[in-house]
Amino acid sequence: MAQPEWWRSAVIYQVYIRSFADGDGDGLGDIAGLRAHLDHIAALGADAIWINPWYPSPMIDAGYDVSDYRAVEPRFGTLTDAELLVREAHDRDLRVLLDIVPNHTSSEHPWFRQALASPPGSPARDRFLFRPGKGDQPPNDWRSVFGGPAWTQVADGQWYLHLFDPAQPDLNWDHPEVRADFTDTLRFWFDRGVDGFRIDVAHSLVKERGFPDVGELTWPPTRIEVEGHLVRPPWTGHPHWDRDEVHEIYREWRALADEYTPPRVFVAEAWVDDPARLSRYLRNDELHTAFNFGYLTTPWLAADMRKTIEETVAEHVAVGAPPTWVLSNHDVARHVSRYARLTQVAGRHVTDAPASLELGIRRARAAILLTLALPGGAYLYQGEELGLPEVEDLPDDVLQDPTWERSGHTARGRDGCRVPLPWSGTTPPYGFTTGTTTWLPQPHDWGPLSVEAQTGDPTSMLELYRTALHLRRTTEALGDGTFRFRDTPDTDVLAFDRDPAFTCVVNFGTTPAPLPEHGHVALSSVPLTPDGLLPDNAAVWLVR
Ligand code: GLC
Repeated sequence: MAQPEWWRSAVIYQVYIRSFADGDGDGLGDIAGLRAHLDHIAALGADAIWINPWYPSPMIDAGYDVSDYRAVEPRFGTLTDAELLVREAHDRDLRVLLDIVPNHTSSEHPWFRQALASPPGSPARDRFLFRPGKGDQPPNDWRSVFGGPAWTQVADGQWYLHLFDPAQPDLNWDHPEVRADFTDTLRFWFDRGVDGFRIDVAHSLVKERGFPDVGELTWPPTRIEVEGHLVRPPWTGHPHWDRDEVHEIYREWRALADEYTPPRVFVAEAWVDDPARLSRYLRNDELHTAFNFGYLTTPWLAADMRKTIEETVAEHVAVGAPPTWVLSNHDVARHVSRYARLTQVAGRHVTDAPASLELGIRRARAAILLTLALPGGAYLYQGEELGLPEVEDLPDDVLQDPTWERSGHTARGRDGCRVPLPWSGTTPPYGFTTGTTTWLPQPHDWGPLSVEAQTGDPTSMLELYRTALHLRRTTEALGDGTFRFRDTPDTDVLAFDRDPAFTCVVNFGTTPAPLPEHGHVALSSVPLTPDGLLPDNAAVWLVR
């Protein structure tokens, strides 16, 4: 475990704990379930796990509403279970990252209860962002990410800010106690052997003093056409996203992480949609890595992918940080379903276009070979190794994402990518729980997608992931390192070289494509044609 800078090439498996595996039969995933299935992740060939929040929480936003940062939610287990999990993961050479939520607490956090019980202007209120309204209106025009205004009024007339649900009051990061409490939390978990943190909405902590209206500013900044090319306009400054002052906080956190042996690491969740802005979080005295949402939101088109990859690599090289690549997570529609549409819009899941899951699966197979061949690290979202699609037909009355209510039932939210995993058997709950129900219902046709059903089937998604991840570990060229696109005659084909002696080719087009000269085929997402061409929507790893 002592290898330095393991994170520069790491493949990190995201455990959405509520839906990974249930050990106590209540239908909600937990630490016992995760411990029982750690071997699945180790056998897959991941280097680390990132676990979504497991702290005490009223679960208004699935655990992203934290009421105690230094304890474990009883429905997930105990602190002892957490410590055992860390030890058992380390025994399997898996590092463990937790999820820290610094932008907001739960409205049930003792600090917020105290704030509500204290008068306007009191020190207890100053840990949050309470402001007077404008007449009977909120202090400004800021909107909640989940819909509706970002302000809620309390009984004495003041309003408090919540960029997400009203049950998630934003903290005041100008307050020294807030800063000190989060460093205590980092230490609390680092001292228990935790290897690092994913930082929730890392770009939102600092708000512009004076709280000006957002007005016409769009987020993320829209691209404009200049001489026939789409470019992002110069950054204009947003009053609550991606403010420059946020970096000072991460410099402090980095210094703290570096005090540990081995040094602890961070990954930023920063939706800045611009590799140049993202790379600012990755300067060498700040965070180690960040999710590459630009890649996740790029449609399955060769030219778009090439542009995203080139920009990403250039901006990361400039600050000496490894790029990362991610296709799915717990906040977006699963990529099998996104790629199943012939019409794709960057950053939006188009559900009204006809879907072919067969096409989605085929592209997802190619996408993982592309992802794992790119330089740097990668994040996998639990269930993608099974090729799970988005569950788009959950009945209205089971939806739990706050987006559904806050949007007045216009946006269905993120439950469709959070459905509990199928482990074994042919009917729900597919071995997910020893009980009979699961917190979200599972589709009736998921039997063939279970871990049990796919294990040993050389044509399955699971075996493709296992083979690719093991090859990645043993192939010197993969992970962090050099990267060069080749010029290809066909604009629907991308090909790039990694040193030494490795080439990846991806065919985004609709007809088979010839391969460049090579020694042997290490792996392909589907079999090559009898005359050695790369079929449509396929990828191949070549050794030169
Ligand atoms: C992040 C999380 C998301 C959560 C939000 C508010 O974007 O990934 O699930 O709802 O932050 O904490």
